[in-house]
This record gives sequence, C-alpha cells and structure tokens, in this order.
Amino acid sequence: MASASVPPARQFPCFRGSAIIGLVPYIRPIIHEGNPTLRKVAKKVNLEELKDPLFQQLIDDMFETMYEAPGIGLAAPQINVPKRIFVVDLQNDKEQGPYVVINPKFTVTEGEIESIEGCLSVPGMIGDLPRFERVVCVGVDRHGERIELEGTELFGRCLQHEMDHLNGVLYIDKAKNVRPAQTEEEKEALAEIEVEGAALERNAASA
Ligand code: CO
Repeated sequence: MASASVPPARQFPCFRGSAIIGLVPYIRPIIHEGNPTLRKVAKKVNLEELKDPLFQQLIDDMFETMYEAPGIGLAAPQINVPKRIFVVDLQNDKEQGPYVVINPKFTVTEGEIESIEGCLSVPGMIGDLPRFERVVCVGVDRHGERIELEGTELFGRCLQHEMDHLNGVLYIDKAKNVRPAQTEEEKEALAEIEVEGAALERNAASA
C-alpha cells in the first residue's frame, strides 16, 4: 500500500559516515565512465511507480545529489538507476529549475551551436561539441502531470546532455577535443558547477 508516510527502507535511521540520517533525502554515489549503467538505454518509467514512496524518494535523492555535487543536472543512470528520469536546476532566477522530467522526449530540436561541456560522470574533463540551439522537452513531473520545458542557451544544452544520459550517451562521444580543464576560466567553471551539462558561458547565461 502506498501509504502517505514513510518508505519502508527509510523507516529507520541509518549511518552514513558519522552522521545519522533519517527521513531526509540523501546523497547517492555518482557513477563514472566505465560503469556499464551509463551505457544502457534507460527504461521508460511506468507511471504506476509514481505512487511508490520509494520512487518519490529517488527523485528527492536525485536533487540532493545534484546540489551536493554540485551540478545543474543529473540523470538517474548517473546514480546507477537505469530509468528515464532527470533533474535540472540552473539555480538562477529565470525559472530554469528545479524540474524533474520523467519519460522526456524532444518535440522540437532546431538550430545548432557549439558549446563546452563537462559531466559529473567524467570528472575534471571538458570538451567542445555541437548541440541544438533550441529544444522543447515534454514529459511528466513527479505527480504524473504533463510538463513542457523550452530550452535555449545553457538550459537547452543541459536538457540535451541529460537526455543523452538516458540513451547511454556521454558528451565525450560527441566532443571533438575532450581534455582536462586547464585554463583558469575552465577550472573556474569546473570548480563552480562541476559543469554537468554546463558551459563556460554559464555566467553570461545566468546573468
Ligand atoms: Co553528465
């Protein structure tokens, strides 16, 4: 029964490090390139699952893990859950998050721009790759309601980066010069946001 309260696995506090955690979202380990889950096509979510408190917990944990990383997007496969779910939050005042999108699809993809990205699952690296200039992404939210997000600039690239994760694709597959972040600007970008689906124009994009 999907009773309101506490998911079974969360009924008892558990230990993580030295802290006792209880009924709160918790940070899950982010897996890295080389882990086969990152290369799977993630499975569509059966919307019945939304009623399961553990599923809702998963979404909370995804947000928590993204913020802690810190990042601006995280796809479920990155925490070893091969389901078609991602969270995004550019953490600005432009209504570019927080959103969770379940079973996302692009209904519009247009234009092309070159961008610099990194990924929490490929730490310390960046690369240049082409992305659509504008996308419209539809899916459902955590309550099963239809959600539609339009993305350009950094937000648009973030949506595309996360969608790729659901299809077993990493940005390094598309980037032409994957390299360690070396210039001051690059390091700064990585230090700020660990560039999950991000770009060096972040400051401009969120100004
Ligand atoms: Co990524």
